[in-house]
Amino acid sequence: MRQRAAAADLEGSLAQWNPTLAAMPVGRKAAGFALRARLEWPIMDGSNNAQLKILLGVTGGVAAYKAPELVRRLTESGAAVRVVMTAAAQRFVGATTFQAVSGEPVRSDLWDDQAEAAMGHIELARWADVILVAPATANFMASLAAGLANDLLTTVCLASQAPVLVAPAMNQAMWSHPATQANRRVLEGRGVRLIGPAEGDQACGEIGPGRMVEPDDIVAELLRAPPRLVSQLLKGLTVTITAGPTREPIDPVRYITNRSSGRMGYALANAAREAGAKVILVSGPTALATPAGVRRIDVETAQEMFTAVHRHIGSTDIFIGCAAVADYRPEAPAGEKLKRSESSMSLSLVRSADTLVSVAELDDGPFTVGFAAETEHLERHARQKLQAKKLDMIAANEVGRGKGFDAQNNALLVLWPEGRAELARAPKPLLAQRLIDLIAQRYDAWATDDNAEHSA
Ligand code: PMT
Repeated sequence: MRQRAAAADLEGSLAQWNPTLAAMPVGRKAAGFALRARLEWPIMDGSNNAQLKILLGVTGGVAAYKAPELVRRLTESGAAVRVVMTAAAQRFVGATTFQAVSGEPVRSDLWDDQAEAAMGHIELARWADVILVAPATANFMASLAAGLANDLLTTVCLASQAPVLVAPAMNQAMWSHPATQANRRVLEGRGVRLIGPAEGDQACGEIGPGRMVEPDDIVAELLRAPPRLVSQLLKGLTVTITAGPTREPIDPVRYITNRSSGRMGYALANAAREAGAKVILVSGPTALATPAGVRRIDVETAQEMFTAVHRHIGSTDIFIGCAAVADYRPEAPAGEKLKRSESSMSLSLVRSADTLVSVAELDDGPFTVGFAAETEHLERHARQKLQAKKLDMIAANEVGRGKGFDAQNNALLVLWPEGRAELARAPKPLLAQRLIDLIAQRYDAWATDDNAEHSA
């Protein structure tokens, strides 16, 4: 079942495409470098490098006057840029300016018969490798968060699979408003990347967060951490992922569990699916919706998780154990609800089956990735687990006091026998994409070695 990923020649994830740039801080110095670099990124579908196609959405804020400069910077950097303006944006800057700097016709009307005939909004959505909205107003962020399609820009965002980046620009009070912050969280949760806002003097005379990040710095950020392009890194592969907590019954109404929300595992399932894999998600009890296109199998106990995973492991190429599985379970769960008759009681616990170890031990098993949840000595303990459990890779996270479990953001230290990578703190959907990129890369090396061993 082991197959090499379609993008076998991938030299690294997008973030590793240019280590010099990746290491650079965002800023004018980096932007100066960026201008000499070309926004020519591997599309990761086996085709040759292509010119990056950026659809720039311009919404109606004062900062719209900076958007033509942004177009210029992007095109100078080698990208192809097409501009979509909202009606409000046209009150700040004329379409002719954007047409001049991009060399492309500017679109603004969903009901433009002529433009729709030549290049419909769906075609525009397909054209874009990346959608960048700068400036992005509070109203636009709210529309995007709500999934509205009431103008050309929101419709294209909804119709496109391209990664979306937004550079917010608004009054500081509007930015800090709970509604805007809630929309920000929704968008980040869906993998939309926010660039800024910056802090400082505002056009309205106030001071605070809400200024659009400068065009140079937006370009530098794009190059420092290139957006994930729609890729097929895991095409043809089956990925089985465990997620969430388990529940170990004490009696018919009580159980032992932990604080796992399932977010990290579900984000991985979504990212693996986006990367083209067939995904089986073996999930403990969570309140989360199943990611689109993912097959979910619900379980409750560690033993049920073990059984469900082994039912599918024969057809699995990559196994990721992200679930927080109870290490111990009550030895003899009571058949009836325990009565509150004694002043104290003790519970006898026995070790539960370790799904991860059992998968790693399989002859001709899948590429096996474990997680390590640690409260201290992260790297030392994770490396011990990697070795003791004979894993191909382990993703370690610090947990406790709002970290790891049930948090929106996370950071990972990823170890494999001959290397390590640090994935910086980010919303779990973004972090999951980065981890999937890394897994795809390591899987590829592993599958190549494995094939070589078999043919030797
Ligand atoms: O779900 P979230 O709220 O988003 O939180 C994410 C997370 C913190 C749960 C996740 O990032 C994480 O760390 N998951 C692993 C939690 C854990 O149980 O770690 P551990 O170090 O105790 O276990 C090591 C590995 O063995 C894990 O891959 C685990 O899935 C696996 N294991 C453990 C025990 C067991 N009986 N069977 C197993 O398969």
